[in-house]
Amino acid sequence: MIIAVDGPAASGKGTIARALAKHYGLPHLDTGLLYRAVGLSVAQAGGNARDAGDALAACGFDDALLADPRLRDEATAALASIVSAHAEVRAALMARQRAFAAQPGGAVLDGRDIGTVIVPQADAKLFVTASPEVRAQRRLAEMRAHGLTGDRATLTAEIAARDERDRNRANAPLRCADDADLLDTSEMAIDAAVRQAIALVDAQV
Ligand code: C5P
Repeated sequence: MIIAVDGPAASGKGTIARALAKHYGLPHLDTGLLYRAVGLSVAQAGGNARDAGDALAACGFDDALLADPRLRDEATAALASIVSAHAEVRAALMARQRAFAAQPGGAVLDGRDIGTVIVPQADAKLFVTASPEVRAQRRLAEMRAHGLTGDRATLTAEIAARDERDRNRANAPLRCADDADLLDTSEMAIDAAVRQAIALVDAQV
């Protein structure tokens, strides 16, 4: 069983994808981490994220980078959003994502284009959203839980800028697949959102 979970930044898709993976006993891939690793790798090499050549060169990042705490920074997320607009970068990361999805028994993948581009044949597809205010609030709470401080207005603006770039790019823009179920978690506590996600997946498979 392959489950595709897409949605904008801080919508709750990662938490939901992890919970689905646990519930169905499937491996989980957070594909945003791959783009974040490319973004961080470009910066470390002194390259320019807007340059397709620099970004493509960074796709050969060392897998040890996937455990780097700096991947979680909003600054890295912004770089990820810039490198991910290059068709070359998306193509370079595609095989790895498809191979993960093709494991015997299946997998859960979360990202922006899982249900539309990476595995359009997925058995179940969810598109997770929440209002911009709720998403900024959740990201702030997450940062505080990690001992970081953040300013709500700055965070809201950063998330909005990233969404805008992700939705309006030419290559694999963020959009809800025609056959995905929409799950708006704005008014839901996480356990209720997970229960709803499981019910939607059960109804699709
Ligand atoms: O999901 P996350 O917020 O970690 O993703 C960081 C950035 O990576 C996104 O804003 C998006 O630009 C890019 N991304 C993407 N396609 C994916 C996953 C992430 O373009 N499948």
